[in-house]
Amino acid sequence: MKVAPSLLSCDFAKMGDEIVRVDKAGADMIHLDVMDGHFVPNLTIGPAIIKSVRKYTSLPFDVHLMIEHPLDYIDAFADAGADIITFHVEAESDIRETIEKIKSRGVKPGVVVKPKTPAEAVFPYLDDVYMVLVMTVEPGFGGQKFMADMMPKVGEIKAEIKRRGLGVLVEADGGIAADTAEAAARAGVDICVSGTGVFKAEDAAQAIQFLKQF
Ligand code: DX5
Ligand code: ZN
Repeated sequence: MKVAPSLLSCDFAKMGDEIVRVDKAGADMIHLDVMDGHFVPNLTIGPAIIKSVRKYTSLPFDVHLMIEHPLDYIDAFADAGADIITFHVEAESDIRETIEKIKSRGVKPGVVVKPKTPAEAVFPYLDDVYMVLVMTVEPGFGGQKFMADMMPKVGEIKAEIKRRGLGVLVEADGGIAADTAEAAARAGVDICVSGTGVFKAEDAAQAIQFLKQF
């Protein structure tokens, strides 16, 4: 699997240095969790922060929008340097319009499903997205327990992608660390997000290499 460390678990006072640290430790991309306090009961970072840390790495910025009106903010996050923008199908914006808007800015689009949302919810968009992000925790906080019962959903999405001969990637996000990585890989996850699994590890490089072996 490719590894996308989630900055939600980093030391926010040293975000630039933390990005350099995981870049050097072998990360494939940086996962940036944007929360608006409406779509999820937490508030994190916005475009200004992302813009300010863009210069610390050339790794792709995988921006995960946990916000009510993603369509309204695509320009801001594209301008800030996002390479991938994923947004929730459960949010208020029109899904197709938001995918098109992301593409119009030359950014790779992805749709996200919360644990209670079935695999079929993303099927209508598989021809138009770069990635599907399957939440393996309720969005809003790091350090939660991996929901292994989301693995069949990963399998269903992977099967539909294969059936249609598409190259869409599947990313999983939430509670993925040394003890849960194998289950995620076995289900077909291509990119794993890991926050506490990397930033709270003794040795980030070792943690990332371990996740990559699956
Ligand atoms: C949760 C975020 C996740 C989270 C992952 O809403 O979308 O990216 O930061 O952190 P861990 O790996 O600690 O669950
Ligand atoms: Zn995330």
